[in-house]
Amino acid sequence: MRELKMGYRSREVLPEEAAGFITSKTKLKPALGIILGSGFQPVLERCTYVLKLSYNSVPGFEKPQVAGHKDLVAIGYLDKTPVIILGGRIHYYEGYPMSTITFPVRVLAELGVKTLLLTSAAGAINRMFKPGDFMCIRDHINFMGTNPLIGPVRLKQKRFLDLSKLYELKYIKMLKSAAKKSNAYINEGVYIAVSGPTYETPAEVRAFSILGADAVGMSIVPEAITAKQCGLEVVGLSCITNFASGFNKTPISHAEVLEVAEKYGNKSALLIEHFVRMYANR
Ligand code: HPA
Repeated sequence: MRELKMGYRSREVLPEEAAGFITSKTKLKPALGIILGSGFQPVLERCTYVLKLSYNSVPGFEKPQVAGHKDLVAIGYLDKTPVIILGGRIHYYEGYPMSTITFPVRVLAELGVKTLLLTSAAGAINRMFKPGDFMCIRDHINFMGTNPLIGPVRLKQKRFLDLSKLYELKYIKMLKSAAKKSNAYINEGVYIAVSGPTYETPAEVRAFSILGADAVGMSIVPEAITAKQCGLEVVGLSCITNFASGFNKTPISHAEVLEVAEKYGNKSALLIEHFVRMYANR
């Protein structure tokens, strides 16, 4: 009931209030927003900053608590292109309502962001994928058991949203070119989002494979759907950090996911930098 009442607000803060707080601190208005999942943080080292904020200082934002996620909201330049980067995210499995998880996306939209690059770690379901590969998200399956748009609708936003072209083809092509330039191996595929925090059972992974999923993760989808509702272009990129459950005899752990994500962190950062350059020259 509380979530229904809160809707698109987080802690009773409206997205435009949080956006107003940020714009009171800088005049730079990036068209590109990037949300970093585990392993993508080295891109932060390549940025020239105009503004750095901790999550707690932004009204309505909850601080990322999970290892591998950085408590940083940054505006600056990546390869001369203005960007706003969220250094981490909160997850549904942490117990937050969807309205809180997706709040930063609504704030980015209020700030004038036009394109949102979402990144995450993911487990390989497709037998052709292996740890260290990247996957540009062509489509998704929402298996989280809820939808981020349940609740009130903001003025001028849609109640029923078409998701047939959620992940923009032109940016899938751009990610592939950026990967080539970064010597990174990239596949294209379907991301299935689960709530977590458990990893899957082997039977679930077999089922997801039959459903058409290529990789599994615990994020991206709520943000992607919300971004679309806000009129943003959506781009999705995962770093494959492990074989999904049942492929190997060894158990999956967050430590393993982080270790692999960090091992390929510089490659992730390079890939994003190339993507940003191409985005600026598109
Ligand atoms: N399952 C779910 N989420 C994940 C995985 C996985 O195997 N790897 C990284 N995030």
